[in-house]
Amino acid sequence: MDDRAEPPTYRQGGASTDERIDDLLDRMTPAEKAGQVTGTWAGTLRETHDLDDVKAAIDERHLGFAAPFGWGGALATTPEDAVAAVEELQTYAREETRLGIPLLFSVDAVHGHAYISGATVFPNGLGAAATWDPEGIEAAAAVTAREVRATGAHQNYGPTVDVGRDPRWGRVFETFGESPHLVGELAAAKVRGYQGEDLGDSAAPSDPDRVVATAKHFPAYGEPERGEDASPVDVSEYKLRNTFVRPFERALDAGVASVMPSYNSINGEPSHGSAAHLDGLLREELGFEGHVVSDWNGIRHLHEDHRTAADHADGVRQAREAGVDVASVGHAPHAERVVELVEDGDLDEATLDRAVRRVLRVKFDLGLFDQDPEDTADEAAAVETLGASAHRDRALETARDSMTLLENDGLLPLSGDEDVFVGGPNADDLVDQLGGWSVARDDGVPGETIREAIEDATAGDVAYAPGTTLDEPVDVDEAVRGAREADVAVLALGEGWYIHEFGPEALAGSETGDWPTRGDLRLPEAQRELVRRVHETGTPVVGVLVAGRPLIVDWMAEHVPALLMAYFPGTEGGVAVAETLFGGNGPSGRLPISVPRDEGDLPQYHDALAHPTPIGADEHPDSYDPLYPFGHGLSYTDFETTDLRATVEKGAEGKGAADPAERTVRVAVEVSNVGDRAGTETVQVYASQRHASRVRPVRSLVGFDRVTLDPGERERVEVPVPAERLGFHKPREGRVVESGAYRLDVAEESTTVDL
Ligand code: BGC
Repeated sequence: MDDRAEPPTYRQGGASTDERIDDLLDRMTPAEKAGQVTGTWAGTLRETHDLDDVKAAIDERHLGFAAPFGWGGALATTPEDAVAAVEELQTYAREETRLGIPLLFSVDAVHGHAYISGATVFPNGLGAAATWDPEGIEAAAAVTAREVRATGAHQNYGPTVDVGRDPRWGRVFETFGESPHLVGELAAAKVRGYQGEDLGDSAAPSDPDRVVATAKHFPAYGEPERGEDASPVDVSEYKLRNTFVRPFERALDAGVASVMPSYNSINGEPSHGSAAHLDGLLREELGFEGHVVSDWNGIRHLHEDHRTAADHADGVRQAREAGVDVASVGHAPHAERVVELVEDGDLDEATLDRAVRRVLRVKFDLGLFDQDPEDTADEAAAVETLGASAHRDRALETARDSMTLLENDGLLPLSGDEDVFVGGPNADDLVDQLGGWSVARDDGVPGETIREAIEDATAGDVAYAPGTTLDEPVDVDEAVRGAREADVAVLALGEGWYIHEFGPEALAGSETGDWPTRGDLRLPEAQRELVRRVHETGTPVVGVLVAGRPLIVDWMAEHVPALLMAYFPGTEGGVAVAETLFGGNGPSGRLPISVPRDEGDLPQYHDALAHPTPIGADEHPDSYDPLYPFGHGLSYTDFETTDLRATVEKGAEGKGAADPAERTVRVAVEVSNVGDRAGTETVQVYASQRHASRVRPVRSLVGFDRVTLDPGERERVEVPVPAERLGFHKPREGRVVESGAYRLDVAEESTTVDL
């Protein structure tokens, strides 16, 4: 062999990404192309998918994606195991295959790299959203990206951009809640945190601490029928565009490089087979240029469940023609079908090439071709990076800011001298504290439980008895005795670890009992009895809810003096709860989702469409009458919001005067801290169009900002609201901002502007 021969163009770091892609694509056989757009899983369930299986699939089917991480949570994968797996597979792909194309590794690090023991685990989506803090969420995502990359993975299956419109749905905890605006802001922040400025290109690869973000699950997933996961989301175009697609647009604006379709169907079209939604809406209309990855089994569902495809091959063809680029866990059968379809003339090779190009582009942009496979990741560095103290500090900040005080008659904050009784099923359970999409065992998980953190926080005595499991009494009498002796009883109640449809045991590897269920948003009887009995002792009760969804806690709302929503707060959640109870942290979280009074009232969201009450408003209960409204959250101090003013500023010169969409509404209010402690207030701006060509929401969130004030301090807070946000998608016309009057509300203040 002539060792002076130039390496092929695709191996030359100096060539442009386009030149390298063209050159490589030319060299690939149909089978290599088909494999390049197919992935496999090598999770901890090693008996079904071990690394040798992955290597065999790479040999035989040329797979281009792999997921060697610990999905399902049955076992904690250590950072060392993760790095070793990544390195072994990458070396194999680079050195033992004809073209040496690197693998791309993907992972679900949706609230931290939480399937790896030792990782920093942030609050799950709903808790993160309760911070209303895009900068904080961006910083948290950057930490996650660093930890993910430290174990050698490149693509994160997040952010979740679903709008959570039904609290019965088992995935509502992953969402940023019910408001398209809040979801959009936070999803965009996560994209920036994961990807950084941009993903680079082959000449200047991206920051090695960044990962490809995946906006999921497109176009609408968050309001499934009956709250049942993956059931149809049969919405009108109006609702599809204005509620569900809107936040995806924000993620696209932030440059998200990948999108994952939803499992469900819309208008009878499963998203994975919908050319209208993927090629049409996503690519042509919204201008997405990245790669679409299937959800796991999303392609198989086409023939197995939706039955819009005759067989697997037909489903593969449909998905590819619709615009799915990567079959995330298609394994060898997917790649085989693609080859057959191309050979039989049933799938245009150009369609396959289009997907291969997109995949190769990411790999070149990330610099994977120019990296020594041995340098994919480093065990020692991974161990050091995961759970680094600066990372955990960031998680603590997020957990603190998520704490949402629902009730307080003055019992909180505690002084720190009390004898405390700690009870409830979630007081001493790190796994429940992390929530789903995390390891389901606490081996090697950093962080303190609520009980441990309370022990550190009080100078008094702490007694502990769980009283119940999530749904079975253990020893309620012991809890009652403990509470009687104490100055205050803290009961950490709520839900356990679950994903999708509440933690199928096969995935969870742990018993999850009968609770939670879709139809029941109340705590199970065992937990309710515990609260009642402890309350009867006369010792004041603080309820702490460790839960992924809004729970109907009407009895507690009425009877116990203090109630704190902690969500699934992550590794630092125990400390954040204790700090909040004892006043080291002033609670500033605000509900990102409404808490209903009753399951029968669903749906309950703040931005429902206006409608008539034909028999007269007096006889008709309010349509939106939740137990706690969207945006609710108390502080340890008191804020006053006064002097709301809104002015319409013209946009870019020449255009502004004519086009309302180009304008910005400057909303300003005076916020004063009139209490005696420092605190953080969230200014929430709601808008409603007075008269419109279509029925519009009664009101909807259009802007927000946080302000931290010392006692006696006041500040004028200005929230710019681009007028475009006041508009809506009008079927057949597109996005419109209509002229006319808009009412703006902040706290109790309101004003009107004319556009
Ligand atoms: C979920 C996705 C996730 C994928 C890979 C699916 O079941 O719907 O959100 O990214 O699994 O774990």
